[in-house]
Amino acid sequence: MKNIVLTGIMGTGKTTVGRVLSKKLGLKFIDMDSEIEKQEGLKIKEIFEEYGEERFRDIESEMAIKAAKNKKVVISTGGGIVLRDENIDTLSENGIIVNLTAIPETIIERTIANDDRPLLNVENPLDKLNTLLEQREPLYKKADIIVDTNNRSPIMIAEEIIENIGRIGSQ
Ligand code: S3P
Repeated sequence: MKNIVLTGIMGTGKTTVGRVLSKKLGLKFIDMDSEIEKQEGLKIKEIFEEYGEERFRDIESEMAIKAAKNKKVVISTGGGIVLRDENIDTLSENGIIVNLTAIPETIIERTIANDDRPLLNVENPLDKLNTLLEQREPLYKKADIIVDTNNRSPIMIAEEIIENIGRIGSQ
């Protein structure tokens, strides 16, 4: 069995769904942003503040290589993982890429409560989100499987992912 790699813009539930999915399948779960925070001893927000986005992207690419070395795991990525083709190439060598989607209003609702996402810590987060979505949607769409998360519980989403993976496997 291949790894399952969750992608998607912030607030699509990659971490929550990843956790549920890994439990359901009895697989190990790796959250790339948490691994980066552990490795660097800093919060993602602090890495952005102290070293800037480009440095974060380099660390993220290194972490993609590390994460991809695992077998039979569920990996949740940071929303910007698709910005470098090499990240997705690495992660898909031994992984199925599953993109989670949500409408901007849902995303804002899910992310408004905390300020740990530097890219949305701006005066108009909805504008920023729309710009990011416009830029990234063609990249997210390259995934093997796309799952809509609007108005759905993490369990329902995990079940849909499992169903879709089964379908791909039987093709
Ligand atoms: C980012 C998403 C964040 C985190 C960083 C950058 C992005 O992860 O990696 O703040 O560029 O979309 P989540 O998608 O888990 O919030």
